[in-house]
Amino acid sequence: MMKYVKNNILLLLVLPLLFWSCSNTKKAQKHSASSPNQKIKLDFALNEKGAPYYTLDFKDKKLIDTSYLGFKTKEFDLIEGFDIVETSTDTKDETWKPVWGQQAEVRNHYQELGIKLKDKKGHLLNITFRVFDEGLGFRYEFPAQSGLDSLIILDEITQFKMTDDHTAFWNLGCWDNDEYWYTQSKLSEIDSSRANYNSLDTWMSIPTSTAASLPLTLRTAEDVHLTFHEAALVDFTGHILALDPQTLTLKTSLAPAPDGTKASIALPAKTPWRTIQIGASATELLATYYLLENLNEPNQIKNTDWIKPTKYAGIWWEMHVGKATWDKASGMHGATTKNAKRYIDFCAKYGIPAFLVEGWNTGWEVWTAPERATAFDFTTPYEDFDIREVVRYGKEKGVSLIGHHETSAAVARYNERIDTALAFYNEVGVSAVKTGYVGSIIPKGYLHKGQWMVNHYNTVMKKMANAKIMLDVHEPIYPTGLCRTYPNLMSAEGMCGQEFNAWSSGNPITHNVTLPFMRNLIGPMDFTPGVFDVAFKNSKNERVDNGNFFMKEGNNRVKSTLVQQLALYVVFYSPLQMLADLPENYEEHPDALKFIQEVAVDWDKTVYLNAKVGEYASIARKAKGSPNWFLGSITGDSKQDFTFKLDFLEEGKTYTVTIYKDAEDADWEKNPTAYAIESKDVKAGDVLKIKLARGGGSAVSFIAK
Ligand code: NOJ
Ligand code: CA
Repeated sequence: MMKYVKNNILLLLVLPLLFWSCSNTKKAQKHSASSPNQKIKLDFALNEKGAPYYTLDFKDKKLIDTSYLGFKTKEFDLIEGFDIVETSTDTKDETWKPVWGQQAEVRNHYQELGIKLKDKKGHLLNITFRVFDEGLGFRYEFPAQSGLDSLIILDEITQFKMTDDHTAFWNLGCWDNDEYWYTQSKLSEIDSSRANYNSLDTWMSIPTSTAASLPLTLRTAEDVHLTFHEAALVDFTGHILALDPQTLTLKTSLAPAPDGTKASIALPAKTPWRTIQIGASATELLATYYLLENLNEPNQIKNTDWIKPTKYAGIWWEMHVGKATWDKASGMHGATTKNAKRYIDFCAKYGIPAFLVEGWNTGWEVWTAPERATAFDFTTPYEDFDIREVVRYGKEKGVSLIGHHETSAAVARYNERIDTALAFYNEVGVSAVKTGYVGSIIPKGYLHKGQWMVNHYNTVMKKMANAKIMLDVHEPIYPTGLCRTYPNLMSAEGMCGQEFNAWSSGNPITHNVTLPFMRNLIGPMDFTPGVFDVAFKNSKNERVDNGNFFMKEGNNRVKSTLVQQLALYVVFYSPLQMLADLPENYEEHPDALKFIQEVAVDWDKTVYLNAKVGEYASIARKAKGSPNWFLGSITGDSKQDFTFKLDFLEEGKTYTVTIYKDAEDADWEKNPTAYAIESKDVKAGDVLKIKLARGGGSAVSFIAK
């Protein structure tokens, strides 16, 4: 008995000591997860104040140094004073099939580390890390907790502390608009006051000059490439990355609601994933494309037969180059029944399955407040456009109409009208819709990247899915891989597309060779390639005020060769690819048009052949369900001599290869439309040598014999 009591007293004395040391080591203790190939290692721990942080190593070298995690909410801070309540690890290795994509199968392979935290007041916060060979994703979870059913987020303090002043490819940090040109500088020099951007923007929300929009791509001295973005942005607000140039630390800067708060969430809630795509080279970075979709939920649309990747032409470029207008009052209305039939005939002749018509519905006469708020009803055609007859004629010729909903960012109005508008398109027989959100959001104060708009874009995506309509969003919130869950979300803009060549001083020569590592690395991109009249010989090329928001300046042009425009159909990824130019401009070059007729828009395999951000990119893709391959290669302001080993072709097969190349004396500035077409037979393992002119490209088809 005595012995028992004695032992118990001893225990009572020792237990608190034991517990104390346990909880302290628990705090300092690192919890880790590594990528399946062991190249990327994540460590998580709490500092002495109980503040959560992580670090990231790539090939045994620190890539992200001590970076803190947490939130400020209206109710309390979730920043320090935490204990780790529980940790867990898991691995997943599965393969799934996208409805459409850059490849027929996607491997989702990662190690997961789960952390459950509790602070002194009992508030709970969970963090889940997933480490892939392609990079890192992590998200926060606000679990259900007693006495708390919602939170108002005031700030997210997620950090990314870089270990060196890397080369950065960035877009100025704007909460509202992504239509700016990229700038290359040192990371520490990210500053919107030195950004290379167009001055045409009418909507801007720049909280601080030293911030970058998503995605942001960095290149280290060892050629490691990292792209910061986010995945599965659902019922939360978007963000930009604010830089502290002294410590080289990036921090999430959430887009606000009109009242200045950032996000309102109902518990339990999960944030989107904060992501870093990592490649040992620019070429490897391109191969990380599916990290974002892997972090999204599987497809929710049961029957997907109606979702069909397609090429499309349209009544569009003629408005951008000042030959026609969206509105009718100008007397230059583009969207007439007659003109639509001309496009249908063109599509039918060249096997293009769809065409877009913009400016078919009334309301384009007003672009200023207060009329802008209610300008469009989305169902009333101008009297010179018989939409039913156009759809009927298209059907007869096997060409379907892509509808257009320019909202002029009057989102409250669109919310009111969308059900009626979709019912109208269903009734008329429209299977895809391009939406647009030009200008500052109405009601005032909301931002394109704010939570209210995130929810709007997602609601529209779901409504379109219910109506069996494919969607292409212009002036979108940047894509975050949601097309895995809703594969009717085909494509989006969210960058300076081809249109900037029509009515601004034009995309810089480095633009097309930067997009694959920025905007196109995070999702399909409706750039609208394929302008053949690159120097605008057939346009008036003078300043035209076409009555809308587009002002065509003098001396505009596309800064590329014609052949580069062909190559973009392979280099730029989108399951919707436009033939942007006018029918008459294509008909001047039927031999070059042949490549666009043949090129696929949906793929079984993608192989990244060579790449350098801002300089060049070459990609080969195998068409979905076909033995044929296509190769696209583009260069910026320098000529290139590329040798491609054709080891991606199927062993033992012979292919007729047709090479569309810049002529010997081609040059984007002096001789952009000079090209040559050569045909021969090749086999797997053969070598193809191709010269690219300055601002040029090459487009190659491999048709299996
Ligand atoms: C901007 C879009 O990006 C463009 O493609 C469209 O033609 C105009 N808005 C008009 O809706
Ligand atoms: Ca746009």
